Amino acid sequence: MADKILSAIDIGSSKIATIVGVRSTESQELRIIGFQSSSSRGVKKGLIVDIDEITMAVEESVEKTERMAGQKISQVFISVGGPHISSINSHGVVAISNPQSEIVDDDVNRAIEAARAISISNTRQVIEVIPREYVVDGQAGIKNPIGMTGIRLEVDTHIITASHTNLKNLNRCLSELGLNNSGFIFAGLASAQAVLTDTEKELGVVLVDIGGGKTDICLYVEGALSYSSSIPVGAKHITNDIAVGLRVSLQSAEKIKLHLSHYFSNKKEIQKKDADLNLTALNLPENVSSVTLKSLTDGIIAPRLDEIYKLVEEEIEKSGFSNSIPSGLVITGGGAMTVGMIEVGRKTMRMPIRIGKPSEITGLVDELLNPQYATTVGLLLYGQKNIITEDGWKNFNRILRDISIGNSINRIKDFFKQFIP
Ligand SMILES: Nc1ncnc2c1ncn2[C@@H]1O[C@H](COP(=O)(O)OP(=O)(O)OP(=O)(O)O)[C@@H](O)[C@H]1O
Ligand SMILES: [Mg+2]
Repeated sequence: MADKILSAIDIGSSKIATIVGVRSTESQELRIIGFQSSSSRGVKKGLIVDIDEITMAVEESVEKTERMAGQKISQVFISVGGPHISSINSHGVVAISNPQSEIVDDDVNRAIEAARAISISNTRQVIEVIPREYVVDGQAGIKNPIGMTGIRLEVDTHIITASHTNLKNLNRCLSELGLNNSGFIFAGLASAQAVLTDTEKELGVVLVDIGGGKTDICLYVEGALSYSSSIPVGAKHITNDIAVGLRVSLQSAEKIKLHLSHYFSNKKEIQKKDADLNLTALNLPENVSSVTLKSLTDGIIAPRLDEIYKLVEEEIEKSGFSNSIPSGLVITGGGAMTVGMIEVGRKTMRMPIRIGKPSEITGLVDELLNPQYATTVGLLLYGQKNIITEDGWKNFNRILRDISIGNSINRIKDFFKQFIP
């Protein structure tokens, strides 16, 4: 069978990143052959606020990536995030169709469908239904019931929903550009796929992707995704605080923030906080030539990080799993590179914290092995693992996920049409 080309677009509040990878059928390895990232326009806190702007930005990004990859992009996985994301755990029960024989795919699909039949408002759409565990005749903790025998099959699922309007706007942008949607993937889930280890998920861990305008959260307990959410605060708030604190423009504040990260990553020895950070190389229009490190890190940045962590802590409390995450937090997204991220986090959260970078890819990876591309890389990794099956068709469960309750048969037909060459 031929190698498979997969593409994705990560539509963020700060950047739009397009990525193309080839999955080799022999090694199952994902080799990146095209990648481009540019400033985002028309997106705020994960929500599309200007369709024309976002469409132009996506078009540019896709064209540049196509040139680099030498491939036309026609089908893409798309990231979705922002405070319109919500999640719920739901239970489904079915009788096994042939109790004399083994549990088959169809039994599992019916159980998932039963769990998926939650009542949601018509302003929302289900984007993900993930089985957490199965129970066969009362025996819990089963990861894959196919091949077992029993009478009653139960499934615990994690369901993620998103604003229907935002998804419609994303689809409009794609169809303007002649691109087919291979599936919406929650940005936090994509990042989790790119940076978390199986051991962390098994022990219990929280993925926190701090982007420009939002922070996506995915909490795993005993290997299963158990809570997802997205809060409307991100690393742009740190830039705002620097702008206000130093009385400079947002552009200058962003430059100062990145310069500070660069300064700390370049120095091996521990910095004296009472030293000054020289800003002359930045040629800022405000003529600020230096700032004391302490005022910047402890006075401006740390309080905002502390606030972000407190909001994450509230989400963990809401999930009801705060005692089940011994692996602590894995922070990723561009905001993860903020100076003081780990120190402030350990103090505020009192749990293990590490910075997560994407892995498990080869090819054009140098630039991509950076926390800000966790979602971008994760879209391809998650898509190839959970959406595209060996023969190139979507998994049945995924098809059900993508079709919201009450949708017409035409949408189902449209959905299948995209796979017909
Ligand atoms: N080296 C760095 N040090 C500090 N902050 C950084 C660094 N690099 C990027 N950032 C910050 O990360 C943010 C962008 O992160 P990212 O690219 O993950 O956002 P996004 O995916 O576009 O947005 P979102 O996911 O919120 O929609 C910006 O606020 C930027 O200032
Ligand atoms: Mg992002």
